[in-house]
Amino acid sequence: MKDYSKYFKGPSLKEAKNRGKSEIHHINDAYHIPVDMIGIGKGQTYFIQTYGCQANERDSEILAGILESLGYRATDEIKEAQVVLLNTCAIRENAEEKVFGKIGYLKKLKRVNPNIIFGICGCMAQEEVVIKKILEKHPQVDLIFGTHNIHRLPELLKQAMLEKEMVLEVWSKEGDVIESLPSHRAHPYKAWVNIMYGCNKFCTYCIVPYTRGKERSRHKEDILEEVQELIENGYQEITLLGQNVNSYGKDFGDEYDFSNLLEDVAKTGIPRIRFTTSHPWDFSEKMIEVIAKYDNILPFIHLPVQSGSSEVLKRMGRRYTREQYLELFDKIKKKIPDCTITTDIIVGFPDETKEQFEETMTLYEYCEYDLAYTFIYSPRAGTPAAKMEDNIDIHEKEERLYRLNDLVSEKANKQNQKYLNQIVEVLVEGTSKKNDEMLSGYSKHNKLVNFKGNKNDIGKIVKVKITEVKTWALKGEQVE
Ligand code: SAH
Ligand code: SF4
Ligand code: F3S
Repeated sequence: MKDYSKYFKGPSLKEAKNRGKSEIHHINDAYHIPVDMIGIGKGQTYFIQTYGCQANERDSEILAGILESLGYRATDEIKEAQVVLLNTCAIRENAEEKVFGKIGYLKKLKRVNPNIIFGICGCMAQEEVVIKKILEKHPQVDLIFGTHNIHRLPELLKQAMLEKEMVLEVWSKEGDVIESLPSHRAHPYKAWVNIMYGCNKFCTYCIVPYTRGKERSRHKEDILEEVQELIENGYQEITLLGQNVNSYGKDFGDEYDFSNLLEDVAKTGIPRIRFTTSHPWDFSEKMIEVIAKYDNILPFIHLPVQSGSSEVLKRMGRRYTREQYLELFDKIKKKIPDCTITTDIIVGFPDETKEQFEETMTLYEYCEYDLAYTFIYSPRAGTPAAKMEDNIDIHEKEERLYRLNDLVSEKANKQNQKYLNQIVEVLVEGTSKKNDEMLSGYSKHNKLVNFKGNKNDIGKIVKVKITEVKTWALKGEQVE
């Protein structure tokens, strides 16, 4: 077996904190196709499964773009594909279990068709424990690569085709921003636009700062050029992406920050702008003002709170107290009264007492969020929280999650009621999944709307009168 020891690096907090101020390179010419790989995929197909967040989805669009530039075409049938990539997520244990389940399935598939190239990439590939497990137990994997070297796919695929042993290339070098990569976007009318990569927040429970590396921003010129191109191609909506968009530009050392970028993007005139995720810690007044000022910046903010207890927040390393969070929440609601606010919450963090959980419930009761993503705490190897004792009984954790989820649906329903008989604007994405007589899309406030309307308007923003309200969706009829 080859010596793979150089890839066994962590996650390690010590190493990550030492990554320091090394320069960030913006590289335009990193991507190239080896001569003997040109057209290699002609007549063949690929299948990519995406497990993670929007950053992961955006990476999958780039992986798809690269494979298409080699001549491959997409297939929905994993059994038919000659190249299968699992773009993985490491955020919680159950995300990882799903991937290992699929790896087992692919073992069988490979027995039937030994010529498939089977690759694993994404955040799990940045974890030492995962790589060790794959090397030991799953030799049917042909290729593993991480989040920092996806532009190397043509070269890595070539090696995987030529070599009998597994090809493994995971970089701990993380300081680059790679531009000019091909991409095959998943949606025709709405698009993800990366504005920055990585995370420096180091919340104590979270693996992302290790799997995605340090915070680094794309140049505003590159972002605005991408937006312009999307406008020219008829896109109606973009979502600016970063693990913590409020940190945009901090690595440049000049004045230009996220509020400036948001304003410049708004001025391009693209009809709809969303952004995610914003951390409450450095959510500035200027940002609130810009969001309030421009109609095309949608009144929708995902503002993860994680816990309603200042004690727990402190142990989570979130950098704000319950009171500071609520102050920000109130400020946003005051300046943008119709703003939809959603959140993320973790229950059962180490040492979370019943009383501390009740503080999360009372905070939720106060904020009446439109929606929340709720999770049971999952220890991640190498993170500071993993050293704390995971001491809340699983039944207790589940009990807390169920109670919270009941509140989440109660408030989601309550928030939706205000749209009854109102007219909302919807970007029509296509026919509804359950009934192809109905169209569906999202409102400005990010509500899923299913409605009777004109199929010729797919891809456009139309007006819909809401006739029925459900907890997770609205129903209506197109009026214009
Ligand atoms: N950058 C985003 C979050 C990305 S992860 C932010 O800071 O808002 C998405 C969500 O997963 C987090 O907000 C958190 O609620 C949850 N999460 C992250 N690590 C987790 C863990 N170890 N266990 C359970 N949930 C976790
Ligand atoms: Fe994870 Fe915190 Fe960074 Fe979000 S801000 S990605 S929760 S470390
Ligand atoms: Fe998962 Fe990586 Fe995103 S761990 S949530 S895919 S940044």
